[in-house]
Amino acid sequence: MSKRVRKAVLPVAGMGTRVLPGAKTTPKNLLNVVDRPILSYVVEEARAAGIEHFVFIVGRGQGAIEDYFDTNPEVENALEAKGKADILADVRRDLGKPGEMSFIRQMAPLGLGHAVWCAREVIGDEPFAVMLPDMLMAAERPALAQAVDAYNKVGGNIIAVEPAPEGETYKYGIVALEAQNGRLNRMTGMVEKPPLGTEPSNLFISGRYILQPEIFQILGTQPRGAGGEIQLTDAMATLMTRQDFHALEYEGTTYDCGDKIGLLRANVAFALARPDLADEARAAIKALL
Ligand code: UTP
Repeated sequence: MSKRVRKAVLPVAGMGTRVLPGAKTTPKNLLNVVDRPILSYVVEEARAAGIEHFVFIVGRGQGAIEDYFDTNPEVENALEAKGKADILADVRRDLGKPGEMSFIRQMAPLGLGHAVWCAREVIGDEPFAVMLPDMLMAAERPALAQAVDAYNKVGGNIIAVEPAPEGETYKYGIVALEAQNGRLNRMTGMVEKPPLGTEPSNLFISGRYILQPEIFQILGTQPRGAGGEIQLTDAMATLMTRQDFHALEYEGTTYDCGDKIGLLRANVAFALARPDLADEARAAIKALL
């Protein structure tokens, strides 16, 4: 029986270059999609997958992330006094429970692999999830829960993937599969941004992973890779020579909120999916078109 996945690492220390200047003083993952920060959706997704401890890898100037998940008596008391019970409930819905969140400073943005490595002491010797919080996933069964289901079936390491739009595989990390039968397939490799025509499949790595703790030893000794950064992909490729990796084509849609148009698409899609806003949102969009 595989060990249960209880902890998730959420690296949020990147520069957010593609959504500057918005991300200059507000951490990118606190930008709103409709009326909640991106991170709110991702933490909700993690909870739905049974995650009990959240490890945020943060950078300088990102204290607002801790504050978001903490109580704010001034705001809460004011809402209570004004009888705004629905807004108060909405504000409180996102609060962390005492002890369930850790915040670790990355100190230098040396890459996603380095960010994940910073979580090693808090994760310890157990499998864990990695969630790239700028990737919002709309799915009936939350994406990470689907990855945990897959992990409970086959163990080892799981990477959530999604078909890339026609002709766009060159923009992504693409997986190579032993054979493509159904949604869960054994991986034989992965390649970062393959030139068009050389891609081993059309499935891109979409930002949810279940990894075994042996990844930390690899990350700790790995030289810098592409862009002078410590790449998670390189460490996973090394781990794949020793352990099983499966790609899960999860059911749902990914929105890359680290990108201007991706963030816009997420706002439109999530507003249209909200029963309380759908009609007004549709009318507003129609009027603009
Ligand atoms: P990205 O490359 O998508 O994010 O990294 P970024 O660096 O913020 O974006 P751009 O390219 O400058 O616009 C994927 C995730 O990994 C985190 C980012 O915060 C993002 O959530 N990350 C990346 C770190 O935490 N530390 C790093 O050193 C690099």
